[in-house]
Amino acid sequence: APPLPVDALGRPLRDLRLSVIDACNFRCPYCMPADRIPDDHGLDAAGRLSFDEMETLVRAFVRLGVRKVRLTGGEPLLRKGLPDLVRRLARIDGLEDLALTTNGSLLATQARALRDAGLHRITVSLDALSPAMFAAMSGGRGRIDDVLAGIEAAHAAGFAPIKLNCVVQRGVNESEVLPLAQYAREHGHVLRFIEYMDVGTCNGWRRENVVPSAELRDRLHARWPLRALDRNYRGEVAARYAYEDGTGEIGFVSSVTVPFCGDCHRARVSADGTLYTCLFAGDGQPLRAFVRQGEDALADAVSQAWAGRADRYSEVRGAATASRRHVEMYLVGG
Ligand code: GTP
Ligand code: 5AD
Ligand code: SF4
Ligand code: SF4
Repeated sequence: APPLPVDALGRPLRDLRLSVIDACNFRCPYCMPADRIPDDHGLDAAGRLSFDEMETLVRAFVRLGVRKVRLTGGEPLLRKGLPDLVRRLARIDGLEDLALTTNGSLLATQARALRDAGLHRITVSLDALSPAMFAAMSGGRGRIDDVLAGIEAAHAAGFAPIKLNCVVQRGVNESEVLPLAQYAREHGHVLRFIEYMDVGTCNGWRRENVVPSAELRDRLHARWPLRALDRNYRGEVAARYAYEDGTGEIGFVSSVTVPFCGDCHRARVSADGTLYTCLFAGDGQPLRAFVRQGEDALADAVSQAWAGRADRYSEVRGAATASRRHVEMYLVGG
């Protein structure tokens, strides 16, 4: 077999985030603000990779060293028949971890089928618990009760622990931090706070809007003492802490204050089959034509693209990078 590719900075390819759809039923202001993204936004079915194409794509990536695949959106549960895709991917030899990131609103009815299809793990985005704040943070589209029901259904279906991702914005949802931690502790979920990032082009990001992880950690530690844990694997994006009282763990993704590009082994592919080698990439490389030629041609194309990769955006972020064009978050799903 040919050697596994490493990029221009010596980083192997281990982890693939595959978006299955670019539509979402939410309009979170930091991602798809309702005044910029029309209600019916989304590729028509012909613009999206089919499940056959996605299976070929994942097989080629696994050949190149990928061991972990995360399905994302937009909102992935809007993709019809998603459990069928999961079933096909879960069978691929060499793929060790198959996970999903969702807004949770449609999870109550789908959790069981996803579990039965062989999905390993679920992460739910959850930026607020209070009904009014949750509604605002989803652009008036989401109801917290639906999401909590989704999380419960996933738990009942056997997903454990469930991870919850909360993006904290200064002056917006800071008041939700302790209630969210309390909720996660009580239910045995693993909450992770994510620093607000300058992804996409829609959110008018400013550095002042970021709440540094160190500050959140201090705030939590004052309420429930914390102890640092070792990372689970090299390149894990969240720094983990255990509650001293034994009530589970919590994580912090500090992509702004403590960049982790040096260990970044992630590729992203959007629902139309475009490869992005960084969350902040301006342009991607269309792969669909190679997918149609089959696994060999595709593996060659990805291998070449990966070899040329030198992305390290979070390490060079500054005044000069602020005006760069970035791929939209809803195309690559975080
Ligand atoms: P685990 O497999 O459970 O460790 O999940 P994960 O942390 O890799 O995936 P998740 O989707 O939960 O990632 C959490 C968040 O971290 C994402 O939504 C992004 O906001 C951010 N993130 C993940 N990967 C990257 C990355 O490569 N670069 C940057 N800057 N942020 C990332
Ligand atoms: N900064 C940090 N995280 C973000 N996400 C979306 N936009 C941003 C941003 N600007 C997160 C979502 C979700 C994941 C897919 O990406 O909240 O958890
Ligand atoms: Fe949809 Fe997730 Fe973007 Fe919110 S952050 S609009 S749920 S894709
Ligand atoms: Fe990887 Fe780009 Fe994120 Fe750095 S900024 S960790 S290179 S995706």
